[in-house]
Amino acid sequence: MEGLARPFFSFLSSTTAVQSIRTASVRVRALPSPLPPPLQSNVEGDLDRPRYTGNDPLSRFVSSLIAIKPLFDVMKLVARQVFIRTAEKNGVDWRGMANEILASDVYVEKELLENKSLVYPDYYLKEFHAYEEGNLSWEAASEVAPATLSMMLRTTPTAKSAAEATQVLRSAWLQAISSHHQMYSGGQGVSSVLDIGCSIGDSTRELADWFPDAHVTGLDLSPYFLAVAQYMEKQRISSGLGRRRPISWVHANGECTGLPSSSFDVVSLAFVIHECPQHAIRGLLKEALRLLKPGGTVSLTDNSPKSKVLQNLPPAIFTLMKSTEPWMDEYFTFDLEGEMEKIGFMNVNSIMTNPRHRTVTGTAP
Ligand SMILES: C[S@@+](CC[C@H](N)C(=O)[O-])C[C@H]1O[C@@H](n2cnc3c(N)ncnc32)[C@H](O)[C@@H]1O
Repeated sequence: MEGLARPFFSFLSSTTAVQSIRTASVRVRALPSPLPPPLQSNVEGDLDRPRYTGNDPLSRFVSSLIAIKPLFDVMKLVARQVFIRTAEKNGVDWRGMANEILASDVYVEKELLENKSLVYPDYYLKEFHAYEEGNLSWEAASEVAPATLSMMLRTTPTAKSAAEATQVLRSAWLQAISSHHQMYSGGQGVSSVLDIGCSIGDSTRELADWFPDAHVTGLDLSPYFLAVAQYMEKQRISSGLGRRRPISWVHANGECTGLPSSSFDVVSLAFVIHECPQHAIRGLLKEALRLLKPGGTVSLTDNSPKSKVLQNLPPAIFTLMKSTEPWMDEYFTFDLEGEMEKIGFMNVNSIMTNPRHRTVTGTAP
């Protein structure tokens, strides 16, 4: 869950303060600006990646603890409690938000959008984020929103609220996409955006707000998460916040989407690839390249192996984090920028968009 989870941001961010930040961001976006400068150099630690990942002795020790079933069972419960406490201490009503989803009409949405013939990749069927059925359950889907807010608060401890933490994190990511696209697309506008691994649609709604003239599609492997995404979007529309271009939701594997080649200006993967083994990350990158128009922009935002905060996490926290993230070693040892270039992306750039996360962007030839 440390990579991120997912919020009711569209609702929470509708305060006047946040609106004015967003208006300012939109103005900045219209100007031809260079990539945002990296945050101060002190966000990067001394190592290439945290010692508790990969094949280092500390990493192997932590993994051997997690492999002991009774210990693992305790760790995942504690990890869950840490997230719930962070949320509740900051005024996020974890149980209330989850119960609201479970008591809603969300179940109908799953019937409407589920692709029943979809074959799930093996890596996706593992126990995940302390849920035995991984992302394939109503329990997981109902807790995504408060879990995301909890993550936002842990990433931005100086923020005064979950909405402010979310705003800080999301606007730096969106600005990185816009800046890359302005610099390298040769003047191509943004009329179509694909959000792979959209979960309950928080990143998708952010992209749709940021690129209001674009047709935005959210795609995910979990029909439960997509059902919440569609339900929340319908709630938003019925509260009078409709869009000129409605969002489309697709239940598919991001490695083989079945969508037409060269059809998107921007393909985004926000906090997806730390949840995937290396072969799947390669599959997602190849599919993104196929889907992008020439000059289009791919963006991947996720944990930065170079983050000083992540490198210096206290042992108890990183052990808990590893116990809920089965693909963490594969993610932290993956040379993302190098693989993107090998696969065929040009202009590959990586910047720290907050003290824990980097946003890596590239251009389709
Ligand atoms: C942490 S969530 C993403 C959060 C969301 N993008 C945001 O920023 O709020 C990761 C998502 O990736 C999805 N996912 C993992 N592998 C996938 C794949 N091969 N194709 C599509 N979605 C995938 C999971 O189902 C999960 O919803």
